[in-house]
Parts: sequence; C-alpha cells; structure tokens
Amino acid sequence: MNDIDFDRYDRIRPIRWTGDALELLDQRRLPFHVEYVRCEDSDAVAAAIHALTVRGAPAIGIAAAWGAVLAARDIQADDGAAALALLEPALQRLNAARPTAVNLAWALARMRRTLAAAGADWRAVIAAEAQAIADEDLAANRRMGALGAALIVPGSGVLTHCNTGSLATAGFGTALGVIRAGVAQGRIDQVYAGETRPWLQGARLTVWELQQDGIAPTLIADAAASHLMKSGRVQWVIVGADRICANGDTANKIGTYQLAIAARHHGVRFMVAAPSSTVDMATPSGDSIEIEERDPGELFGVGGVRTAAEQVGAWNPVFDVTPHDLIDAIVTERGVIERPDPQAMRAAFPG
Ligand code: MRU
Repeated sequence: MNDIDFDRYDRIRPIRWTGDALELLDQRRLPFHVEYVRCEDSDAVAAAIHALTVRGAPAIGIAAAWGAVLAARDIQADDGAAALALLEPALQRLNAARPTAVNLAWALARMRRTLAAAGADWRAVIAAEAQAIADEDLAANRRMGALGAALIVPGSGVLTHCNTGSLATAGFGTALGVIRAGVAQGRIDQVYAGETRPWLQGARLTVWELQQDGIAPTLIADAAASHLMKSGRVQWVIVGADRICANGDTANKIGTYQLAIAARHHGVRFMVAAPSSTVDMATPSGDSIEIEERDPGELFGVGGVRTAAEQVGAWNPVFDVTPHDLIDAIVTERGVIERPDPQAMRAAFPG
C-alpha cells in the first residue's frame, strides 16, 4: 500500500499558540466563516471550551493545557509546587468546562504533575509541556491512521459520525485520520458522514474539512444510516471517542450507540479510533461516565431559525455510551484491540 502523504490530506489547524495568547478556530462559525477567536486568559479558554468554539476530545485537552499556561501569567511563584497551589482554582474552572471527554481532565492532570516537579523555570517547563501534549497528539493520530486503515479492505465504503478530524485534535484526526489514511492508500472509495444533530458537526465541519483536503464526502441525514448499511455501500462505521472505559465501553457523540446497534444488525464492522489519552482505566464501565446535557434550546432550531413549536420540552444529552461488545476494534497509537473486553483492555493498558 502507498505511504501516506500527511500534509496533502491535513491542512487545517484549529489551535494556534502565539506565545502570548491562544487562537481558536471558531467552530460555531464554520463552514462559511473561517475566524480565529483570541483568548488572553484561562477563563476565556474555559468559556470557549464550554461554548464549543473549540471542541472534540483531544482539542479541548490541548486548549486546556494552553489555558493553564495563560493562567500562569497572573501569578508569581518561586517554583512549580508553589505555582500549582496558586493555579488550582483556574485549573478547576478549566476542568469544569465540559464533563464527558476525559482528555480535558487528563491534560490538566499532566500539567499538574509537570508543575509539581518543576523548579524555578516552571513557566518555561509548563509551556513546553502544553506543546508536547499537542505534538504527541498529532503523532498519535498519524500512527492510528496507519493502524486503522490497515484493517480496511480496498474498495470499502465507510460511515463516520460527528467531527473527529484536524478540527477536533492537534491535526490529522482520530476516526477521520483513519479515513484520511484509508483514502490515501486507496482502501476507501467512499466516505459517508452523518449530519450529527443537533449541532451538525458532520454537516458543518466534517464534510467541509474533507473538502479542504480534496476528499469528496457524501452527507447523509442521521436517520438514513440504517438504510445506508442495508444497501451494502459501507463496510465500516468509524468513530472517535470521548472516553474509553476499562472494559472497552466507549462514550462518543450522541447517536454513536444507535450506529453500533445498526452496524451489528447489518454485518457492518464498527471501529473506534482514539489516542491513549482518551482511555480511562479508572472508570470501570460506561455506567460511571457523566454524560453532558446541554441547553434544550439547541434542539429548537437550525442555524438560528426556530423549527419547533414554542413552549415544547426537550432533552439534550450530547453523548452516549456504546457497550464494548458492539465494538469490533479499538485503535489507539499503541495498537489495535480487537473485540475489546476488560481483559484485552488490561493487556493493552496495564497501568
Ligand atoms: O461535542 P463535541 O463536538 O466536542 O463532540 C466530539 C465528539 O464526540 C467526537 O466524536 C469525539 O470527541 C472524538 S474526536 C476526536
């Protein structure tokens, strides 16, 4: 199979560190407006994470790490341990911005550990750590892309959900990284993307992102997924993850669980691609994951135009949990876990 030309298939960067501010590609404005929001303090970063200006599990972890660097500008301390004590309230506000994607807590825990061990040069040390988190994410995605693509038979069609690409990560993407690699190697002939109601990450972000990189996707309504699978046009559903538990249960964007059920019914294989920073061996199963519920108002309209009658009630959970026995493969940068279960997860992530 061909080598992957990473630059050709990966041109977008959602997070830019300027040295004194964090610039975030405003994902609420895409695809018609490509604008960066400038964050000059950590609370602006926390607000941007909560508002989905920046989104996607790895991207919010990276943004939070840079948020910690911004928070450090407001304090004076002789060493990292003293700085950590002063920074803790800002770190907790960043951590509270969104609950489900473990990458946010993971990145902040890593920043805390780094600070605790740092000396007088702690400012430089945490800036280097935030950059390392971003660099390692990009490298992990490229590795996952190659590992995941190798599972796909040439000539396949794939369906993806939400946005898991460069926009959701440091670059290349998780599930979309596997898809980019699969297209580059001639394994994937057709990419279908579900709209991903209510926030339309698929319709607004994924198809735009693929277009930027010269890949022509086919958009479908979320409700068309089972019909597509029945047609025989897709061999894999490939999704990312916001948290993978110790038994392999996986939290991801709402709608993922029903795709996994439909895939099993139709003999379509189901792949989860995520970096090891998304694996949470401290959470035993999906029952223990906090599922973010957002403003029901997100369901009442599209693009600012109200579509639901006034005064209706709504429930807006934005993630769901796919049980591990519906997953054929979990792909991380450390390797492929086929038919994940507690034993296979322990073997891959011994702790
Ligand atoms: O609410 P979002 O848009 O942040 O949700 C993102 C997803 O669910 C992605 O599929 C997940 O983070 C994996 S992305 C690399």
